[in-house]
Amino acid sequence: MTNDIRSRIANLSDQLHFHIYRYHVLNDPVIGDSEYDRMFRDLQDLEAEHPQYARADSPTQRVGSDLSGDFAKVAHPAPILSLANAFDEADLRHWEERNLRLLPSGSRLRYVLQPKLDGLAIVISYENGELIRAATRGNGVTGDDVTANVKTIRSAPLRIPLDPAAGPAPARLVVRGEILFHKDSFLELNREQAAQGLPAYVNARNTASGSLKQKDSRETAKRKLTAYIYDIVDSQGIELESEWQILRYLKSMGFKVLADASRCSSLDEAIEQAAAWEARRDDLPFEIDGLVLKVDELSAARELGVAGKDPRGAIAFKFPAEEAATTLLGITIGVGRTGKLTPTAQLEPVFIGGVTVSSASLHNYDQVAALDIRQGDRVVIKRSGDVIPYVIGPVIGARKGDETPIQPPQLCPFCVAEVVQPDGAIDWYCPNQICPERIMRALEFFVSRGAMDIEGMGPQTIAALIEERLIQDEADIFALQAEPLLALEGFAEKKVENLLSSIEAAKARPFEQVLTSLGIDGVGSTVAGLLTDNFASMADLQATAELISKAEASFLRNTLPLLPAAAADDSDVEKLRQRLRHPTTELAPRYMQGAELGPRLERLLRPLQLPVESLTLVAAQLQQLIDACRPLHTIEGLGPILARNIVDWFTDAHNQTVLKKMQAAGVNMKAEEKKVSGTALTGQTFVLTGTMSAPRGEIKALVEANGGKVTGGVSKKTSFVVAGDSPGSKVEKAEKNGVPILSEDELRALLGE
Ligand code: IVH
Repeated sequence: MTNDIRSRIANLSDQLHFHIYRYHVLNDPVIGDSEYDRMFRDLQDLEAEHPQYARADSPTQRVGSDLSGDFAKVAHPAPILSLANAFDEADLRHWEERNLRLLPSGSRLRYVLQPKLDGLAIVISYENGELIRAATRGNGVTGDDVTANVKTIRSAPLRIPLDPAAGPAPARLVVRGEILFHKDSFLELNREQAAQGLPAYVNARNTASGSLKQKDSRETAKRKLTAYIYDIVDSQGIELESEWQILRYLKSMGFKVLADASRCSSLDEAIEQAAAWEARRDDLPFEIDGLVLKVDELSAARELGVAGKDPRGAIAFKFPAEEAATTLLGITIGVGRTGKLTPTAQLEPVFIGGVTVSSASLHNYDQVAALDIRQGDRVVIKRSGDVIPYVIGPVIGARKGDETPIQPPQLCPFCVAEVVQPDGAIDWYCPNQICPERIMRALEFFVSRGAMDIEGMGPQTIAALIEERLIQDEADIFALQAEPLLALEGFAEKKVENLLSSIEAAKARPFEQVLTSLGIDGVGSTVAGLLTDNFASMADLQATAELISKAEASFLRNTLPLLPAAAADDSDVEKLRQRLRHPTTELAPRYMQGAELGPRLERLLRPLQLPVESLTLVAAQLQQLIDACRPLHTIEGLGPILARNIVDWFTDAHNQTVLKKMQAAGVNMKAEEKKVSGTALTGQTFVLTGTMSAPRGEIKALVEANGGKVTGGVSKKTSFVVAGDSPGSKVEKAEKNGVPILSEDELRALLGE
């Protein structure tokens, strides 16, 4: 029995050490917070009961660390403490009782209740009102110096107070808070990723952490992080008596504070309010993983002191788990319209945050390998808000040894074509364009709302039409005739009539919608809009793609034979070789703008030691490619990977046939002539941002009707930025580039409205 306990303590310590490393060092946790908290608490309890077995290196004896080698170290002026956890009402009552026992009898406690932000802790120091340093929590004693990066975060004031009426700045003020992504900024970031053809970020907290720990602060500046400040770590020249005063003081100094914090005169009141918080959780602009309850009177909190690394006067009240562990029974593979394979975990059903979950996303096989998820593993599942539940990772400690590694399949499960992983791609694909599953998904997408919007063509109808060989690709839809349809089961006259008339109506969808419906990887309605703003017709787009493809083939044909055979150990030469093999994504975008190509290319290729004639040839070939790429690659908001997808799609023989058939059937493939009724804005380029009195599309049409042009991104070429309510970073970019900013009213005034 005693041996049992000893080995349980040792085992828990080992597991926790591993998870601390995954979380704090690698920024890549494999279990959820609640699972970790549970293990941590089990260990604390066991150690409390059997102190003789507690190990000196137990994780309960020290504070976790997020230190990494890239930053200078900063000593914190006082320990950056952590918080003990409470999981239910009983835990909270127990906490209060213990505190009351430590205080003079008859004491009564008031509390401040505030959300527990799911971001990463930051410590910012001000001297005489000026931000002089910002550091991560690190191990609680020293942290990483991330001053340059924090200075890019707009909600972290560089100087306090903002409002002189708030009084003089304190001689010294060290505050503590949390850095995070607002939910909408995180979504926006992922939209941008998608527009660049890059994979989405999964976890907002990890992404915030990664963003703050960039070596180059310009990278941090690109991310829309927010800093909330909730505590004072150290100060000189101010006297405050309560948590409530701290929050008010921080606010007066110009910090972003938790506006929803509330002051409760008793624990009962706090518990009552906590329930309301949980209900509002999804409506908050940021992710929270619980609430923080703090004793309001600072003198009482001081008297209570610290237990280990947690102040006794504050506690985290964690929400019930939205994470749970269960067994991974198997994997099912989905094939999408682009051929992309997506593994889905089939789980032993588990109840998480109010619903039973029996399958969860595994994202992709790279992720499965990186997390070392195996069939039969106990895995932790997270469910948050409306997002599809996903697998966070395996519980390594629960392995029995009979779990089996998961490999991508070699054959498509639907058509048995050999699957491929294109160069540089994360995902695996079924390359067979007539794979029945791909066709089914492509058609489902093609007829959906926002695409061709064909009513009466649900999945069952599509399946029946494929089954009867009435359609084999998108274009076949437009050749459907009444007679064979009437022969199908359940297709009465009226139904056929309706279907045919909605197909007829679909032929006239706007060019943008037609382009969206093609299902080109990464080309949703936004990118389709960018394309139709720049290409007048499908034929133009196709011609550009073909030109690029030809120029690329010529480049490869002419330049690859010039390359010297790389010495096995020469990684520089190998890197260049790789670049030259992918000139459209790796070279053309780099040299598209700016000074003369020749000398710059010469510098790049120096390690290859090419003779002058060869260099001239490479430069000429690249110039040709750049000229071909220009119409597509200079579209703002469209990255080289997306451009690659578009070129590949339009130069594919099968796709070309489908387009031809659609064209012959009379599907609209031209941009609408923009009706220009006025000329007030001729030659001017506008960027719209923020919420306006009418939908963005309407304002855009208004600008265009007056001869102006609307583009997506701000550059030096932009004539005006029109800013509505809560405009985004575009306004800042406009200020930086000296682009004048108009309100909607000012725009309307320009038009004489
Ligand atoms: S107070 C000495 N308030 O949660 C007490 N912490 O799990 C200092 N956190 O390490 C912490 N929101 O990084 C406090 N409103 C809030 C918080 C908060 C998030 C973090 C903090 C802490 C961790 C504990």
